[in-house]
Amino acid sequence: MPKYTIAWMPGDGVGKDVMDAARIVLDAMKFDAEYIPADIGWEFWCNEGDPLPQRTVDILRKTKCALFGAITSKPNDEAQEELVPRLQGKGLVYRSPIVRLRQMFNLHTNLRPCKAYPGNPLNYRGDDVDLVVFRENTEGMYGGVEFHPLPQSVFDALCANPNMRKFGEKGLSNLALSTRIMSRQGCESICRQAFEYAKKNKRRNVTLIEKPNVLRETGGLMTRVFRQVAKDYPNIPAWEANIDAICMWLLKKPQEYDVMIAENMFGDIVSDLAAGLVGGLGYAASANLGDKYAVFEPTHGSAPKYAGQYKVNPMAMLLTCVLMFEWLGEKDAAKKLEAAVARVTTERKIGTYDVGLSNSTLEVGEEVARYATGNSLRSRSTASSPSAKRTTRVPTSKVKIKSKPAKKSASRKVVAGRR
Ligand SMILES: NC(=O)c1ccc[n+]([C@@H]2O[C@H](COP(=O)([O-])OP(=O)(O)OC[C@H]3O[C@@H](n4cnc5c(N)ncnc54)[C@H](O)[C@@H]3O)[C@@H](O)[C@H]2O)c1
Repeated sequence: MPKYTIAWMPGDGVGKDVMDAARIVLDAMKFDAEYIPADIGWEFWCNEGDPLPQRTVDILRKTKCALFGAITSKPNDEAQEELVPRLQGKGLVYRSPIVRLRQMFNLHTNLRPCKAYPGNPLNYRGDDVDLVVFRENTEGMYGGVEFHPLPQSVFDALCANPNMRKFGEKGLSNLALSTRIMSRQGCESICRQAFEYAKKNKRRNVTLIEKPNVLRETGGLMTRVFRQVAKDYPNIPAWEANIDAICMWLLKKPQEYDVMIAENMFGDIVSDLAAGLVGGLGYAASANLGDKYAVFEPTHGSAPKYAGQYKVNPMAMLLTCVLMFEWLGEKDAAKKLEAAVARVTTERKIGTYDVGLSNSTLEVGEEVARYATGNSLRSRSTASSPSAKRTTRVPTSKVKIKSKPAKKSASRKVVAGRR
């Protein structure tokens, strides 16, 4: 029986392409897992009225963790139009399945490492940037508590704050409200995990990204909790920065920063900025971590214009597999895979369009697999065939790879080390 069962959710667009590349690598490394395919994405919204069918939730509940490619999301008007006719007008509302998964499985922590691999021409500020963003993943601006139009009862309750009254003049049907609700528990959890990570991995400093001078209550709560938690880690410098200021400072001097903590939306923004410093979306991995379950996904979306072309960079997906290995306690496999990604990046013999090369998603996967296993794959792959470049798919099942089995360790960590 395989050691792990993993929910396999390619989703939409290039999610399928990068997951195929991941499978080449995982199989080559002889990762001891059974992959259970699970439906998620736009197709299931259009045909069933739910992009996250209950059968998928059931699969996730039976698996150790999930690997996820990407999904397509569209505004509600378009979502309604694309429903099959029998489902239209039934009051169905589209909600992002990944946001729902985060809430449903209490995946409270979004871990986004942003590390520059030497030689990547997309490294924007040198080869030595190494940031890790800890983003609170279930509360804050993406907590899902929104209204439009504004119900009278909500308006009345909000008038407890005198600043609300001026909005009443606009008419409740003209008001939209997205809330930023944060709990002491949520703030404490994300702060403590970040400090624990910094301590364990000997990181240089921890920075809280907030805006407490304007968002006085939510930002204030997070800041107070951060300062309290920081007292338990006296050897780790604890810095604070406003979200607007950090966007400038990260562009100017990213090397000065190390571990960063942020609320849901601020974390989303700052981690994309950080990703832009170290190779862009093609290198941006993420892990949605809960106490008992985790969903691993590259940061990028479904990139519809490249869907099915096997053109996009699979490195983000492969670094996502590194995060999964670390969470599972497969430290040796994590090290080998990250080293292989770094080596392929530095060598620049094989790479996708975004790094100025012209290989396919799968060819990059094969090259990484070759280094991760110490075996030569290229002679039997599509790498030498110009016609295969960019557009040809190699069915994963037909790629035969000799490899050494990855060593496994028994321990399992919520947040794994990177240095
Ligand atoms: N978590 C997710 O699944 C997720 C995240 C973001 C966007 N989306 C959805 O994806 C769809 C497309 O959104 P978008 O175009 O704004 O963002 P996107 O991330 O899909 O793509 C934006 C552009 O970035 C580049 N890119 C993305 N991934 C790349 C990769 N692996 N290698 C090289 N280049 C890459 C491409 O040029 C692409 O056109 C939308 O429906 C959006 O809602 C989903």
